[in-house]
Amino acid sequence: MSLSNEIINKKGYAILPINNMAKFNKLRNQFIKRMNISDSKKNINILRRNLAKMNKSEINKCMVNLLTFTEASNLMIESCSDIVSELSGNKIFVQRRAATIFNLPGKDQRRQWPHYELMSGISPFTFVLWAPFHDLDDDGGVFYLNQDQSNEYIKREQEQGLVNSPLILNELFNHQPPKLKFGEVIVFNPFILHGNISFNSNLARVACSVRFQSAKQPLMQKNTDFFKFYKFN
Ligand SMILES: [Fe+2]
Repeated sequence: MSLSNEIINKKGYAILPINNMAKFNKLRNQFIKRMNISDSKKNINILRRNLAKMNKSEINKCMVNLLTFTEASNLMIESCSDIVSELSGNKIFVQRRAATIFNLPGKDQRRQWPHYELMSGISPFTFVLWAPFHDLDDDGGVFYLNQDQSNEYIKREQEQGLVNSPLILNELFNHQPPKLKFGEVIVFNPFILHGNISFNSNLARVACSVRFQSAKQPLMQKNTDFFKFYKFN
């Protein structure tokens, strides 16, 4: 079965190997360097341990350090060029700023509410890549519902004339997050419901995500403020 068929018509998401690990390693190394935490310059696990101990304002400072990390989106797209070009061709719109995401362990951390990406105003032709900077070795992670399960929730919202409703946001999903390894990426369509579950560890989880779509498809609320044009050679 083709990847497009799997992602658009069938399950809605897939876990795949990253095809250009040289680029992905470069992305991770540049990220570590830009975080600028003295004793964690080379090792992702030391960095994760430091992040897990930080308070929210220290985390915010790290986020500010990443504001100039504008190469991240190209590096992420180029790491996964096989997937991106198969789904969206050689001329694409890519999110200007790939997001580097820290998830901190513990119950008191803000949880990422269950959501589907379409809620945020991207077009239905957008796909998302999400890849961790290390093996996912604890019980936490991001859970994903398949397309049929996601559609059930979206239809129930629609029947009630609701969008972004408590029906989805407050639901306690009991789905196991897939255990991705470093070097794997999950790609999913914007209708797939997903969310973060809390986890216990002394290491924070760090991942990178980026959105992209074919340049032949229309942009919607998220326009060229959010996306830039990119062409594979
Ligand atoms: Fe998301």
